Amino acid sequence: MKRIPIIAANWKMQLTEAESKHLATFLKENYQPSADLEVLLFPSFLHIASVRDIIAGSGIYLGGQNLSFAEKGAYTGEVAAFQLADIGCTHVLVGHSERRHYFHEDYETVNQKVKAAISSHLKVVLCIGESADERKAGVTEMVIVDQLESAFSGIDHDKLASMVIAYEPIWAIGTGKPPKPEDAAHVHQIVRKTIRRLYAPEIADNIRILYGGSIDAKNIKAFMAQEEVDGVLVGGASLDAKKFLQCLKNWKD
Ligand code: PGA
Repeated sequence: MKRIPIIAANWKMQLTEAESKHLATFLKENYQPSADLEVLLFPSFLHIASVRDIIAGSGIYLGGQNLSFAEKGAYTGEVAAFQLADIGCTHVLVGHSERRHYFHEDYETVNQKVKAAISSHLKVVLCIGESADERKAGVTEMVIVDQLESAFSGIDHDKLASMVIAYEPIWAIGTGKPPKPEDAAHVHQIVRKTIRRLYAPEIADNIRILYGGSIDAKNIKAFMAQEEVDGVLVGGASLDAKKFLQCLKNWKD
């Protein structure tokens, strides 16, 4: 089966509502949807409804940047999976390195969030990646395998198939210093090999593995050209409407 590539925009905590609406409007007006690419936006929770209304009918998908581990209830300040689904999200980011670092999300929390998302039929974009020190110490493979095994704990075959993995080496996020595309692709192979071992060859062959970290309109094509890279998660370069549109246009010849 051919894996349809994904280009996803992670707007993090960067934009006002007016800026989010401007970006969404610009994309809706200038991006021609195509069957060979999925485009996915992760706005702030606060702007999801406005962005949803703007991109309605455009074929662009919408996701939350985070969710609560809990299903529902007295959890002041949290946002539950069912609320994301209810407001029109199809996807949710889980385990972004900024959440693991600043909000101390450990392996167990990430696993709980994966389960919470799946129970509301959200497609999880699971972020994994090693730190600079881990890379230097030569333990990248061990870290990646640990992150996958813990996140997947208790997840059935049929549920895993709907997930997307985003490999985001922490040292490449927001630094302007991505790895060589072939080095990223090598880690993607490790991810696929691990999924093959834990689940089944057809699940591993079909699951989409994105690369994220300092992707821009200039380097996107080299990453997307790698057989193992099924798309990208773009942070900084997704905040500028023209630059992100360039990414959507430049990813292939
Ligand atoms: P970046 O962020 O493109 O700004 O490096 C990527 C991410 O954190 O998802």
